[in-house]
Amino acid sequence: MKTILKTTDLCKNFKGQMAVNNVSLNIQRNSVYGLLGPNGAGKSTTLKMITGILRPTSGSIEFDGHPWQRGDLTQIGALIETPPLYENLTAYENLKVRTTMLGLPDNRIDEVLHIVRLTDTGKKRAGQFSLGMKQRLGIAIALLNNPQLLILDEPTNGLDPVGIEELRELIRSFPAKGITVILSSHILSEVQQIADHVGIIAGGVLGYENELRNGENLEQLFMDVVKRHHKEV
Ligand SMILES: Nc1ncnc2c1ncn2[C@@H]1O[C@H](COP(=O)(O)OP(=O)(O)OP(=O)(O)O)[C@@H](O)[C@H]1O
Ligand SMILES: [Mg+2]
Repeated sequence: MKTILKTTDLCKNFKGQMAVNNVSLNIQRNSVYGLLGPNGAGKSTTLKMITGILRPTSGSIEFDGHPWQRGDLTQIGALIETPPLYENLTAYENLKVRTTMLGLPDNRIDEVLHIVRLTDTGKKRAGQFSLGMKQRLGIAIALLNNPQLLILDEPTNGLDPVGIEELRELIRSFPAKGITVILSSHILSEVQQIADHVGIIAGGVLGYENELRNGENLEQLFMDVVKRHHKEV
């Protein structure tokens, strides 16, 4: 099964506004898929439907060859918009709440803290973390259940250049570990450096989807799609 996730004519209507309009995505297993689009394009809304946070108005989602069902969330890890943190708990404690909830062994906590390089925050509470640290903890939470599919909504938000480079390396390492990544971004260079496949969305419409070839002029593609579909938000 080469395709891990497929959406067909996915739509989300918010009080008459088509935030997502007939979006059909094809995500190949063990790849990094970059979902690009300007502010208000419908990226987060699309990702929220894939992770069961929002119910599609119409259209369908297939995961691993079958119609998406809530139980598939055991195979999906996600960080969408701001990480859901308990501000008065430490990084370890934030993860402990989740391992308990998910019935996972506690040694997974140290593993994910190590992966996101957040092992030395000790007693510091998440509310006192910098933006980048919060983002890393959010990614650690998304990784806890060893997901087959990792969904990251603008994961470099708030990260410094070193953090961005580290995260890029980290994301690039996932396909070899059997983790497929969908990440959204409005930063062209980020997607250019990280993705194998790219989808470009504007005004709720997926205007382009293809393998990202070396030396491709992503800026031109992006501008073309935006000109065709972008509506003022
Ligand atoms: N809960 C909601 N109720 C009403 N409208 C919404 C809701 N969530 C999103 N929208 C609208 O849907 C459109 C798409 O929003 P979405 O958050 O998916 O964009 P985005 O591509 O993630 O943008 P950004 O890059 O700014 O995060 C916007 O016009 C937004 O105002
Ligand atoms: Mg968004």
